[in-house]
Amino acid sequence: MNFGTHILFFIICFYFIINTIHSSSTNSSESNPDSFVLTCGVTSEARDSDGRNWIPDSKFLSSADSIPAKAKYQDPSLPSTIPYMNARIFTSEFTYKFRISPKTRHWVRLHFYPSSYSKFDPSIALFNVNINDYTLLSNFSASITAQALTQAYIIREFSVPPIQSDSLTVTFTPSSLDNDSYAFINGIEIISMPEIFQSVPMVGFSAQFIDANHSALQTMFRLNVGGQYIPANNDSSLSRTWYDDSPYLYGAASGVTSEADKNVTIRYPANVPKYIAPADVYSTARTMGIDPRVNQNYNLTWVFQVDANFTYVVRFHFCDYQVSKINQRVFDIFINNQTAQQSADVIAWAGSMGVPVYKDFATHVNDKNGELWVALHPSLSMNPEFYDAILNGLEIFKINDTDGNLAGPNPVPSPMLQKALSREEERSFAKSQSYSRSALIGGIGGGVAGGALVLAIIVFVKHKKRIDNGKKSSIAGWLPLYGSSYSSAPKSNGSKSLSTLGGALCRHFSLPEIKLATQNFNESQVIGVGGFGKVYKGIVDGGIKVAIKRSNPSSEQGVHEFQTEIDLLSKLRHRHLVSLIGACEEEHEMILVYDYMANGTLREHLYNSKKPPLSWKQRLEICIGAARGLHYLHTGAKYTIIHRDVKTTNILLDDKWVAKVSDFGLSRTGASLNETHVSTMVKGSFGYLDPEYFRRQKLTDKSDVYSFGVVLFEVLCGRPALNSSLPHEQVSLADWALSCHKKGILETIIDPCIREEINCNCLQKFAEAAVNCLSDQGIDRPSMGAVLWNLEFALQLQLNPDRPNLVAEQKANNAYVMHTKLLSIEEESDNGKDSPDAIFSLIVNPQGR
Ligand SMILES: *[C@@H]1O[C@H](CO)[C@@H](O)[C@H](O)[C@H]1NC(C)=O
Ligand SMILES: *[C@@H]1O[C@H](CO)[C@@H](O)[C@H](O)[C@H]1NC(C)=O
Ligand SMILES: *[C@@H]1O[C@H](CO)[C@@H](O)[C@H](O)[C@H]1NC(C)=O
Repeated sequence: MNFGTHILFFIICFYFIINTIHSSSTNSSESNPDSFVLTCGVTSEARDSDGRNWIPDSKFLSSADSIPAKAKYQDPSLPSTIPYMNARIFTSEFTYKFRISPKTRHWVRLHFYPSSYSKFDPSIALFNVNINDYTLLSNFSASITAQALTQAYIIREFSVPPIQSDSLTVTFTPSSLDNDSYAFINGIEIISMPEIFQSVPMVGFSAQFIDANHSALQTMFRLNVGGQYIPANNDSSLSRTWYDDSPYLYGAASGVTSEADKNVTIRYPANVPKYIAPADVYSTARTMGIDPRVNQNYNLTWVFQVDANFTYVVRFHFCDYQVSKINQRVFDIFINNQTAQQSADVIAWAGSMGVPVYKDFATHVNDKNGELWVALHPSLSMNPEFYDAILNGLEIFKINDTDGNLAGPNPVPSPMLQKALSREEERSFAKSQSYSRSALIGGIGGGVAGGALVLAIIVFVKHKKRIDNGKKSSIAGWLPLYGSSYSSAPKSNGSKSLSTLGGALCRHFSLPEIKLATQNFNESQVIGVGGFGKVYKGIVDGGIKVAIKRSNPSSEQGVHEFQTEIDLLSKLRHRHLVSLIGACEEEHEMILVYDYMANGTLREHLYNSKKPPLSWKQRLEICIGAARGLHYLHTGAKYTIIHRDVKTTNILLDDKWVAKVSDFGLSRTGASLNETHVSTMVKGSFGYLDPEYFRRQKLTDKSDVYSFGVVLFEVLCGRPALNSSLPHEQVSLADWALSCHKKGILETIIDPCIREEINCNCLQKFAEAAVNCLSDQGIDRPSMGAVLWNLEFALQLQLNPDRPNLVAEQKANNAYVMHTKLLSIEEESDNGKDSPDAIFSLIVNPQGR
């Protein structure tokens, strides 16, 4: 961390402290006497960024033998300073004691942030955690686990059955494997819960059951299938977090997602209490698709990485809100190649449409790679009306073994990640040097405006490479709860195996598969060349077209960006983001496999190309699509994702001219929605760089907005962002367009191919949006959501030049749109018919949904 980021870090800390003081004064503490939410190593209570109250752990200590400590560094991906920035450290066995009701089951959540605490090195902490007679963790290393999962912090969730005692004791014991080892904990939640488990049938054994209700369980996965992330504070009193299922889907056949119509209400029957899962889980689903021939030939499949040699309870949540009769949609459920349920018919189980039902199955995982497969396939033998399957939610719990043990081994980082980590260490030596250089350049950029900035950029270009090498990349993850064990399993048995890259699951391709797909990296298949290496087109699975990005083995920075891209893309799905299908990491190759984009990059349709020019309407639609993709990155996931390299070569077009944002190699995540800037070395592409980011090295989502403004002018003017062959004042498109707009002569620089076509009101709106994006100060720039709205509006002005009442509508709704994330929710659906009118009316009439 350099000097600049230090200062920033302190400012952030200070901000958080002030914030915390503020919010704790408006407090109402946990009302449930049988529940405890503790932030460890502190003396006063505090609220986290979701407004949840955490009380100090001091009252529950059974001895004084512990050390309160504060983390030295705050990772930008921490969701909140509470409970992560403080810890309690134990150098010998130590127990917390909670008086609880002996008849109740409890959630136990443990929060760990493996960071440096005063003189304690996080890599030395190795310890066991027990609750009464159960072993939850043994020889656990939070730092190894965090590294393998590429996450800054870890949450482990357990559920402990009623114990024959009125106190729950949580014991931390430093491992006996190492004399110096110590234990630590940042946060503990003990929350009483209803008994949600019962006796569960074992798949593959008739009439054999496992007693989940008398066992402790560890939550491995909890997914809102076909839906979105649901934060803990939106899920009743059980405060569970539900995640998107798409990272766990196997292969390219991912079915379609849907959402219940607003007129279907979710009605919980007597045997499905509301706390089983929130209505948001039951009102979204993934189904197989509409084509019965396609559905007959594939399984809708999810694959999970779990610890081998344990038994798991797999809970399926169903609610059919599309069909209403028995035998319309009937399917088989497979778990690890065995039939768990034949002829599942949700309507037959639930009795009617919109009624939730859930089913539990148990399976013992003895696969040495620790994989658990779940697959659905239409039951052809029942001859249902639709050859289809549905799933709304999925939970996977590990059950304690006969000794009361739940602990598995620490995960091992994938070999590629290990390589990346050791490189990162080497790089940290170069840091101080590269800082002074970028500070100098930043100073030039900040001191002068307009044309002189171009000069500074050119200076900067010369140094770019070295500065890149000095960047401190911290890889942030999304799913801190999951992936208890990503072993370094062998991954070369073809596409049946899944890679553990970046702690996220994405399909693994073997090198022979990739060679077959690209005709052995035949040059004739090359469709692009970038900083990362070459991009080939290829065919996999006997007909699916893909784009294959092969890293150049000599590319130094590739490893990080490869990793970041997998981390991000495998967890994000959106109609306007390029989908990652899989990866290959054999024999020093780093290869990513994406959806094929038949129409290439946006830039190649704008200038310096023999392709026919795009019409103005096409251009507008493409800009709208790209804006949606960026808007989703900024607001749709739990963390703000800043793309950092928005430009016309990173906007790709598929065969239907749908725009997709690509290339997340440089992306960074903001810590949370409230704290959307990250301090970092300047990266990005020249001509598109936000001047504020350049001056202050403060990256925000508004940096993307700036770059997008440049894209808008590129689209309008049909010329590159930088063109050094032009007269001085025209070199930078951003400066040139702004000055022409100011003088009222913007029409003169419009691409001649479209000049006649553009409606003047539309042009005005479009130019206004682009000019606002280019505001010098980030704070003056609109959000991506507002840009999107203005582009939609511009398109309407183009298509319906005679609708005068549009302006009034805009005034009425602008405020609403500015403050809503409406669009990001809508966009998840794959069947998006991009009728601009439909989408537009959806925006202007939000109540209509
Ligand atoms: C699972 O159990 C088998 C047989 O007892 C053993 O050989 C294997 O190493 C175990 N696997 C793990 C990951 O513990
Ligand atoms: C679906 O999965 C089952 C169980 O693993 C398998 O027997 C079947 O062949 C699969 N069907 C298809 C079409 O892949
Ligand atoms: C879990 O541990 C408890 C206590 O040791 C034991 O009674 C129970 O049988 C175990 N559960 C399973 C499924 O082995």
